[in-house]
Amino acid sequence: MSRPAIVVGVDGSLSALHATRWAAREAGLRGLPLRVVHACPPLAIQHPTTLAGQQAYLAALRDQGGHWGREAAAEARGVAPEIEIGTVSRVGGAHEVLIEESRGAALVVLGTRGSGGFDELAVGSVALALAEHGTCPVVVVRGRTPADAPPDAGPVLVGVDGSPASVAAVGFAFQAASVRGAELIAVHTWTEVSFDGAWTALPLDADPEEVAERERRVLAEALAGWTDKHPDVAVTRLVRRDRPVRALLAEAERVGAQLIVVGSRGHGEAMTGMGMGSTSRALLYHAECPVAVARPDPDRKENP
Ligand SMILES: Nc1ncnc2c1ncn2[C@@H]1O[C@H](COP(=O)(O)OP(=O)(O)OP(=O)(O)O)[C@@H](O)[C@H]1O
Ligand SMILES: [Mg+2]
Repeated sequence: MSRPAIVVGVDGSLSALHATRWAAREAGLRGLPLRVVHACPPLAIQHPTTLAGQQAYLAALRDQGGHWGREAAAEARGVAPEIEIGTVSRVGGAHEVLIEESRGAALVVLGTRGSGGFDELAVGSVALALAEHGTCPVVVVRGRTPADAPPDAGPVLVGVDGSPASVAAVGFAFQAASVRGAELIAVHTWTEVSFDGAWTALPLDADPEEVAERERRVLAEALAGWTDKHPDVAVTRLVRRDRPVRALLAEAERVGAQLIVVGSRGHGEAMTGMGMGSTSRALLYHAECPVAVARPDPDRKENP
């Protein structure tokens, strides 16, 4: 069976080129092929046009997509000359095309922003849709000017809450740290209110040190098998009495993280019914460095 590819979505934007360079480096580190994908949105049906007109329109779109694909492939080649690179322009909406591409891909990489939207938009709709509905891990790379290229040094951070998606995040983070030779910082937070199938208010007179000890065990259990599988990775364990987003952002800034890894959702699934939890969503909006959103793969065993 051929190796799964790292897919990068390109739309001619500078963000997508940052994403492409990040994806190329990852493909080089993991020894995987890179697949550069551009989705050409079909002409809205309500515009009156002849068949010949529609065909000319589609040909022009494909031409443009082909140009952006070649531009991205050249950037990728500059970062990782040894990797196998394929480019494809597919007719369809970017969400649909990329969600379909995510099936069977090792990873989908996108820019936070694309060529659309308005200036102040923090994260574009395609990036959000993939983080929420992609079927493989998705990395969203910030940066819209040549000067804000993503960092390529510093620790990898992973947010751990013991949920199935956070188990997937831990696996992804260990691999990312291992191939980079980077330190891994595992962050687990707790607050006075905990969710374990039902909201439970911890007794107000609980000894914070006792609670912290229990939470340290939760973190240790979540990491147990992975440290054996990746003995090369130096792991720092942090347990904080804080909200997860705040703790992860503060730690990422303090250490100059090159990547934050989280699960697509935590224990709150039953509460919101949404595809992505609030921590993952907030990090996509506010993290300075690339954010990886991992999810359990139904066909793969997540534990080491
Ligand atoms: N047509 C496309 N084909 C392939 N990848 C795309 C396409 N459009 C966007 N992407 C990918 O998604 C990333 C984010 O772009 P997105 O479209 O979400 O933001 P935007 O254009 O700024 O805002 P919006 O389109 O929501 O108004 C891009 O950097 C690129 O990686
Ligand atoms: Mg767009």
